[in-house]
Amino acid sequence: MKNSSLIRTALAATLVIATLQAQVKQHPIPRLVQKDGRYALMVDDAPYLVLAAQTRNSSAWPSRLPLLWPALEYDHVNTVEIPVYWNQLEPQPGKYDFSLVDMILSEARKHQVHVIPLWFATWKNGSQHFMPDWMKMDTARYAHDVNKNGETVDSPSPFATASLEADKRAFAALMGHLKQVDAQRTVIMVQVENEPGSYGTVRDYSPAAQKFFDAPVPPEILNAMHVNAATNATWQQAFDADADEYFNAWAVAKYVGQVAAAGKAVYPLPMYANAALRNPLNPGPASTYESGGPTDNVLSIWKAAAPSLDLLAPDNYQTDPAAYLKDLELYHRADNALFLPETGHPENARFFFKVLGLGGIGFSPSGGNTEAEFAPTDHSKARFDALEPWAQNYRLIGPMQREVARLNFEGKLQAVAEEKGKTTETLPFGTWNALVGYGATGRGPAVGNPTPTGRALVAQLSENQFLITGYYCRIDFRPAGTEEQRRSQTIAIGNGQNPSAQIDGKWVHRQFVRVEEGTYENGVFKFQRMWNGDETDWGLKFGGDPVVLRVTLATY
Ligand code: DGJ
Repeated sequence: MKNSSLIRTALAATLVIATLQAQVKQHPIPRLVQKDGRYALMVDDAPYLVLAAQTRNSSAWPSRLPLLWPALEYDHVNTVEIPVYWNQLEPQPGKYDFSLVDMILSEARKHQVHVIPLWFATWKNGSQHFMPDWMKMDTARYAHDVNKNGETVDSPSPFATASLEADKRAFAALMGHLKQVDAQRTVIMVQVENEPGSYGTVRDYSPAAQKFFDAPVPPEILNAMHVNAATNATWQQAFDADADEYFNAWAVAKYVGQVAAAGKAVYPLPMYANAALRNPLNPGPASTYESGGPTDNVLSIWKAAAPSLDLLAPDNYQTDPAAYLKDLELYHRADNALFLPETGHPENARFFFKVLGLGGIGFSPSGGNTEAEFAPTDHSKARFDALEPWAQNYRLIGPMQREVARLNFEGKLQAVAEEKGKTTETLPFGTWNALVGYGATGRGPAVGNPTPTGRALVAQLSENQFLITGYYCRIDFRPAGTEEQRRSQTIAIGNGQNPSAQIDGKWVHRQFVRVEEGTYENGVFKFQRMWNGDETDWGLKFGGDPVVLRVTLATY
């Protein structure tokens, strides 16, 4: 498609967008809410679970995005994460071109998905590669980090105030445009920068930076890190070996926080920063990973230095399951909602259920995994097979995502994923324990699946009614007694066909009153058929097909 017609299309999109906006009903602005340490992303005033996929870095162009929909639809996403490029958006200082933003909005609306724009600006993977040309050409004004040997490195300096002011202006312009053209709230959340921080130097050693490094640590940082240092303690005095990294985290966080604040002042959408992770189990020195980003060890510095950010999010590509799960735990904090803007490696797809189990608000395999190495026009089986591990989750949870998000926010939902060597899980729900077994066929014990692919979700609808679903697992229930009974006695348990417990000296057995298979249509459970007999004896088994059951229990 020749350039002139591409621009004509994008401009046409802008025009259409503007005229249509006049008639569009204003939807409530999405927001992140918190209750009892649990979080929900409210979209149209109700909890919403982000089932996203991220495009590749260079896909946010009219010549590419339209080609991605077959894969994104196969993935059953309800949200697409896609970059907005500063260098394209502000080709000359103060001149803003929103044609690509408008193209993204019109494409997303055509495919009825929400959008999370990724503001590729001062930082993209620690470098300034998406800064406008006129900034890249003026490194005196828009300075880079300087390393210990005085050499300039391929990372922007968080002390370059000209860069900060320019980024704040451009981001505020973007948010202003979204406010103007997106009354229907296609955009539900915004990522500010991408994996900010620095490679090649743990901090900026420039004179501008050194002045701050030699100055007292701001008290809010000492408090955040629970360091009881002498008054006016410098970074070196307060943090010793960690001083360089913590200083860089403070500087980068302060910068990103100010950019976010400038955007929020115009249009207060939920905003987050994403982190290139270190290995949480064996991190090594800061020179071996990206320094200054919201890595697990400096989350509290980021929380203190960038309060305008709603959450800090791990790009979780860990291949060691223990490290993957450790990072989920580290980012799941009372002051931080868990959201995975990027993840990869098909064997990690099952951990979507772990994220749900930790009250996560969303999940997103990233470009390399969703666009994979296939040409966008390749609709071969191999192409979709590569997407299947991710698509399988969303195919199941997509139709019921509102219900899952609501039940999770209300603390009524638990979800688990199989880990090698762990064949069963017990999930306490008051007077009932849900029993999950992996690789359990027929009446036999759970022996684990050949490869750990099992996942289960159990949500309590009322005292004796549950919503359950999952893959490659068996779910059953055992009476658990009241809290008082559990406190006052040792409750013996019995396996067998109907799991039982000896409570107050009497054996109490689980019975299924009803097991209804159903589907969700527009968020409502639609009854399909009853399970009974062989399908309920010895527990409820889930294979590879998307199945949702509503289970009513009683005892005898
Ligand atoms: C993490 C970055 O955030 C992504 O944009 C991409 O560069 C991946 N790393 C690697 O593909």
